[in-house]
Amino acid sequence: MKRFNLRVCFCFLMIGAYFPALWAADSLHIHLIPQPVNISERPGEFVLDQKVSLMIDAPEEKLNEPAAWFANQLKTISGISIQERRSEKKAIHLKLISAAGKNTIGNEGYKLSVTSSSISLSANTPAGIFYGMQTLLQLLPADTKAGAGIKQLAIPCVEITDYPRFGWRGIMLDVSRHFFTKAEVERYIDEIVRFKYNVLHLHLSDDQGWRIEIKSLPQLTNVGAWRVKRTGNWGDFLPALANEPATDGGFYTQDDMREIIKYAQQRNVTILPEIDVPAHSLALIAAYPNLSCTQSLYSVNAGFRSPVRDDNALCIGNDSVFTMLDKIFTEIAALFPCEYIHIGGDEAYKGFWADCPKCQKRMADEHLKNVDELQSYFVKRVEKILKSKGKKMIGWDEILEGGLAPEATVMSWRGMKGGIEAAKMNHHVVMTPWDYTYLDLYQGEVNAEPPTYGMCRLSDSYNYDPVPDSVDEKYILGGQGNLWTERVPNFRQVEYMTWPRALALSEVYWSPKSARNWDDFIKRMEVQFHRFDAAGIKYARSAYNVIFTPVRNSGRDFSVKLSTEIKGLDIYYTFDNTDPDNFYPKYAGEPLVFPLGATQLNVITYRDGKPIGKQINIKKEELAVRLNARRHEY
Ligand code: ACM
Ligand code: ZN
Repeated sequence: MKRFNLRVCFCFLMIGAYFPALWAADSLHIHLIPQPVNISERPGEFVLDQKVSLMIDAPEEKLNEPAAWFANQLKTISGISIQERRSEKKAIHLKLISAAGKNTIGNEGYKLSVTSSSISLSANTPAGIFYGMQTLLQLLPADTKAGAGIKQLAIPCVEITDYPRFGWRGIMLDVSRHFFTKAEVERYIDEIVRFKYNVLHLHLSDDQGWRIEIKSLPQLTNVGAWRVKRTGNWGDFLPALANEPATDGGFYTQDDMREIIKYAQQRNVTILPEIDVPAHSLALIAAYPNLSCTQSLYSVNAGFRSPVRDDNALCIGNDSVFTMLDKIFTEIAALFPCEYIHIGGDEAYKGFWADCPKCQKRMADEHLKNVDELQSYFVKRVEKILKSKGKKMIGWDEILEGGLAPEATVMSWRGMKGGIEAAKMNHHVVMTPWDYTYLDLYQGEVNAEPPTYGMCRLSDSYNYDPVPDSVDEKYILGGQGNLWTERVPNFRQVEYMTWPRALALSEVYWSPKSARNWDDFIKRMEVQFHRFDAAGIKYARSAYNVIFTPVRNSGRDFSVKLSTEIKGLDIYYTFDNTDPDNFYPKYAGEPLVFPLGATQLNVITYRDGKPIGKQINIKKEELAVRLNARRHEY
């Protein structure tokens, strides 16, 4: 309403002015994600137009890059150009105070003050200024869109002091199962920094593709980056046919990766490289078959399930494996400035090691009691390689098996257990428990989603906390959302699976725990959906869909409870196979009983008389199967 009034008034005042001239939020209420530590809304607004100056107060041009980034973003989002100039009139002041350690905002925090006459953004570091700019951009009206002829934007007056709870706020993108181009990775970086993420973990190798150029081992990408082209349902694909060319895939040259790293650095994002060993290594083994225990010949897996187990693990008894890993990690260490290298370490099938004479000899020589200790020997030896190159090791929580390497950091994915165990041994931990942070899982009723597995609802992500009660918070560096991409074949689906769960996780990792408020988050998320729409970013609306909970009555009989994650929605339903709308029965809270002979329940959600969720049709027998399932199983 406010927008309309302001816009109309302005048009009356400005003869010959462009329409619409002043773009203000529908309500000047502020909707930020992640929620800042301290926020005080004030009456009034700052009117931003191209006469506004950017004034920088920082030594050694330290803020020139973020200032240019901000001006560019503003132009992209709204069409309004502002410039750096000395002007005592209306200005956005950027100030580096360089007092980290002496004030509460630390290395990534900021203070933002918007009054009707000026905007002042200060921080100890350029990173803090950058995060303050993200907040400032979220103060713009949500439907701001370049090309709409906007001349002025209203920014609500506010005082904000803000800093993160955790220093490690990551997203993992699996670029092995599906390859995403440099431009797509950069676009993803642009999207995640909006919500103050600062780590992009790239899963660069797996059975389905090797994605980074290693100059001393050209076969890794000549062979390992390419597979036969398949589309449809991942897991059901046909294996490579005889002489079928491997044309699908790709890799980043070291020059490409340097550009990605620089792009990320300019946005305060660290690229964490993962080379997944000793298992998940079929792409490497396809290129160098002598490095597995069985030395079987493989092609890169294109998404088919083998009838027999693939030997996708490196032979730990073979010294050539360590020679090769030294070469790989020498180049990885030189290429990536990140202090860590992720070595994977997950899901190794140890049966081939148990049957392999070389592995048996290694176990005898090194006095290793079992294959868990053999895996631990491997991980410790890789840690030494990384250390010799000035890098710290991080790995999935399987690296705990058989004894943790002395200085390893653990990425806890099989729940929080591994993280708790590592923290109790005074090791650092990054929390990524699958059932709360895996972005490849279903995010709502499976009948309304593209096929995947498991379940991680928006509220699961929002309500999780990375610091279990029994653990000292100082060992928890932070956490991530992890996007495995077996069933994510294009970048639009990357976005769909990421948003809005990564909005929820951004709040888990940035905001104080005490600020968590689901209903308020949903309001802020819905405003963010307008920003996604304006920017052409795909996101999931799954949280508007019905959740079915079958409840056992007596014997084999059951009824069905219906609910939604988002409060205040109406649910309409039918048992007669017709499509429900708001003229049909409305769910009143009591579990529904299937009428005699009915085999299907159709439901849809409405809000304020309009459909808001998808219509979902579910068979009675499917609900019967779910009676025995656990929470995250479907
Ligand atoms: C994993 O999900 N295998 C780390
Ligand atoms: Zn072996």
